[in-house]
Amino acid sequence: MTYLDIETLLLDPETKIIVCCGSGGVGKTTLAAALGVRAAESGRKVVTLTIDPARRLAQALGLQELDNVPRKVAGVGAGRRGTTKGTAKGTAKRGGELHAMMLDMKRTFDEIVEAHASPAKAAQILANSFYQSLSSSFAGTQEYMAMEKLGQLRASNTWDLIVVDTPPARSALDFLDAPSRLGRFLDGRFIRMLFVPAKVGSRGYAKVMQVGLGFVTGTMTKLLGTQLLTDVQTFVSAMDTMFGGLRERADATAALLRAPGTTFVVVAAPEPDALREASYFVDRLLEEQMPLAGVVVNRVHRSGVPEITTANALSAADALDDEHNPEAALAAGVLRVHAQRLSLEATEQKRVDGFALAHPNVRLASVRAFAQDVHDLAGLRELGRSLCDDLAETESAS
Ligand SMILES: Nc1ncnc2c1ncn2[C@@H]1O[C@H](COP(=O)(O)OP(=O)(O)OP(=O)(O)O)[C@@H](O)[C@H]1O
Ligand SMILES: [Mg+2]
Repeated sequence: MTYLDIETLLLDPETKIIVCCGSGGVGKTTLAAALGVRAAESGRKVVTLTIDPARRLAQALGLQELDNVPRKVAGVGAGRRGTTKGTAKGTAKRGGELHAMMLDMKRTFDEIVEAHASPAKAAQILANSFYQSLSSSFAGTQEYMAMEKLGQLRASNTWDLIVVDTPPARSALDFLDAPSRLGRFLDGRFIRMLFVPAKVGSRGYAKVMQVGLGFVTGTMTKLLGTQLLTDVQTFVSAMDTMFGGLRERADATAALLRAPGTTFVVVAAPEPDALREASYFVDRLLEEQMPLAGVVVNRVHRSGVPEITTANALSAADALDDEHNPEAALAAGVLRVHAQRLSLEATEQKRVDGFALAHPNVRLASVRAFAQDVHDLAGLRELGRSLCDDLAETESAS
């Protein structure tokens, strides 16, 4: 198994963008925040772009409102990491900062419109109800907007490191597909048809198109009602001027994901489904020659006392069992829980080993399962420590 050295990755000045992806609920948002805290406390100027953080995590990051700009996180900075092994690498520089922002999808969409259309046209689009529902609902919008925001953050040249969380998706692959899906939407037959009369000068062609359009219009009016249809037409003709701009941006953000300095961290849990998703994702990244840092297996169970083996724990529990002695019965119970823990650990390890065997060149790291949710800075720091220092222990032990 090759280990993923997150510490080195975070501190490498060449690492500019880390994208945390993975299937739903595996810990992408938490890990993205923890990486941000860790890198900032090692001296880098970091921004974390989170999506839908749990309320308490958002509070810890000072994210009370959706305002679509990064805000400095209070209580994070160089030298706060404490005396852990990580600092022994001599990295406790000054000047680290963490800024955080939550993605406001609609606001990001509006900003693009404002940047690409004349003020009058922009106002017309923003007021359009079709636009309003499109900007907050069509499939892939959230993924696309995350990338759009990423492009803006990168272009601002303000950050040593940008850590990007990805939206909760059915499949982790949705994130990669979003730009092309947006492209397909914009190139879609229906949209093109509505565009054409405005673009083609030839009368004959325009006439054919009008007939076609009239047919579509008639059917759609029946289906959708007149108001919505008027909205669609207003929207589409206003979008006309922006068409090229949006396509270019979709392509530019897609290119950013392949640019030097960008790397993906795939988050998984030691569960069959999450590892399978991670496996698809890893294959896809490699296939598309995208930079993969490695896989982080989150919420791994680790026993505090591995020296008491399952067999020893169970036989000691059997020997202790005595219904007339409550203390002995309690001890027996604890030993049985310990045995269960060890067997869970062994099962998880077997799954991770299976993954490693199938992907011998993919680097792996793990984070232990905490007893409680991770929702404050102390928890994020602890998570970062587990990710970086447990590895150091494993390596020095082997
Ligand atoms: N190592 C851990 N130990 C204990 N709890 C954890 C750990 N990692 C994450 N959690 C908790 O698991 C929950 C889900 O984490 P998180 O929101 O980061 O997942 P996600 O992948 O972003 O989910 P979604 O796909 O919905 O966006 C959170 O309540 C978080 O505090
Ligand atoms: Mg999340």
